[in-house]
Amino acid sequence: MIILGIETSCDDTAIAVVEDGVKIHSNLVADQSYMHERYGGIIPEISAREHLTTIIPTINRCLDEASIQSRQIDAIAVTHGPGLAGSLLVGVNAAKALAYSWETSLIGINHLEGHIYSAWLENLFENSQVAFPLLCLIASGGHTELVLMRNHLDYELIAKTRDDAAGEAFDKVAKVLGLGFPGGPIIEKEAEQANEIDFQFPRPTVKGSLDFSFSGLKTAVARKAESDGFYPQNAERPPTTTEVQEYAAAFQQAITDCLVQRTIKAAKEHSVSGIILGGGVAANGFLRKAMTKASSVPVIVPKPSLCTDNGAMIASAAYFHTQELGSYDWSLDAIPNLKLS
Ligand code: KG4
Ligand code: ZN
Repeated sequence: MIILGIETSCDDTAIAVVEDGVKIHSNLVADQSYMHERYGGIIPEISAREHLTTIIPTINRCLDEASIQSRQIDAIAVTHGPGLAGSLLVGVNAAKALAYSWETSLIGINHLEGHIYSAWLENLFENSQVAFPLLCLIASGGHTELVLMRNHLDYELIAKTRDDAAGEAFDKVAKVLGLGFPGGPIIEKEAEQANEIDFQFPRPTVKGSLDFSFSGLKTAVARKAESDGFYPQNAERPPTTTEVQEYAAAFQQAITDCLVQRTIKAAKEHSVSGIILGGGVAANGFLRKAMTKASSVPVIVPKPSLCTDNGAMIASAAYFHTQELGSYDWSLDAIPNLKLS
C-alpha cells in the first residue's frame, strides 16, 4: 500500500511517499525556519502562508523523487491535529482536494501518533524485536507526553507537561543566550564544546505525579543570566563563548535528567517491554544516550531526521491506522487541539 503523507501542523511543509508503513520512497521537508528566525519563534500567519505556496511544488517534487505517479498512490494521509489552525487547514484541504481528484482514500492522523510511528519506519521497530506494551516519550516544540501503547492505536496518556514543552524550553533558553531558532540543535552543539561546569540548574518535579514542568528551569537560566549581567539582551554585555557553552551544557543536563527520570519511572510502573522516543527533542544525542544508558528495556529511537517533523511518520501511522479503522470521509477537518487518548 503506497501512501502520500502530508504534515503541515507547524512550520514545516513535510511530504513523503511510504510503502506499507515502513519503506520510505521519498521524504521532503520544506523548512521555513529562516522566515521565523528573526522573531525567535513561529509566527502562525507566516507559517500558514508559506504552506500555501510550498505545498503543491513539494508534493510534485516528492512524487518525482520517488518515481511514483499519482495513480499509484493508494491513500493520502494528513495531519489533522493538534497544531496551528491555519497551517493544519492548508494540509487538510490539499489532501482532500487531491484525494477527490485522484480518487484515493483519505486518512486523518494525529500529529503525536505520527511521532510514535516514526519508530516503525525503515523496519526499526520490527528489527528491535520488542513487543507491546511500550512507553512512548514524545518531546517536541508543542508537547511533552508519556503515552502507554498497549497495542497499535491503543494509547493511554500517562503524563504531560504542566507548562512549557521540552522543545519550547530549549528554544527559550537559546533566546536567553542570544542563539538562533530553533534552539534545540544549537544548544546541543554549544553544550558539546563545554568543559567542566561548576554550577547546576534545578530539575523541577511535580509532587505525586509523573507530569513534567520546565518553566521553573527556564526561569532559573534567565535569573542566573541576569545576575551574571548578560540578560536581558543589551544588558551590560553579551555572554562570552565559554558562558554560552556552559549554560547550554548545564541546561541540557538538567532537562535530560527530568525527561529520563520520569520516563524510566513510568516504564517500571507499567512494566513495558520497550521505550520509544519521538519528537524533535528526541533528535538530541545527549538525551538519546542518557535514556539508553538508564533503561533496562530496549530504547527505540528513530534517526534524528525522522524525530523532527516529517511526512513519512504520518504515512506510516496511516498505514497501521487504516488496517483497523479504514479511511475518512469528506467531513475530515482540522482540529487544533486534537487529543491522542
Ligand atoms: O517535533 P518537532 O520537529 O516539531 C513540533 O512538533 O514541535 O520539534 C521541534 C522542537 C523544537 O523546539 C526544537 O528546538 C527541538 O524540537 N529540537 C531539538 C533538537 N532538534 C530539534 N531539541 C534538542 N536537541 C535537538 N537536537
Ligand atoms: Zn512534531
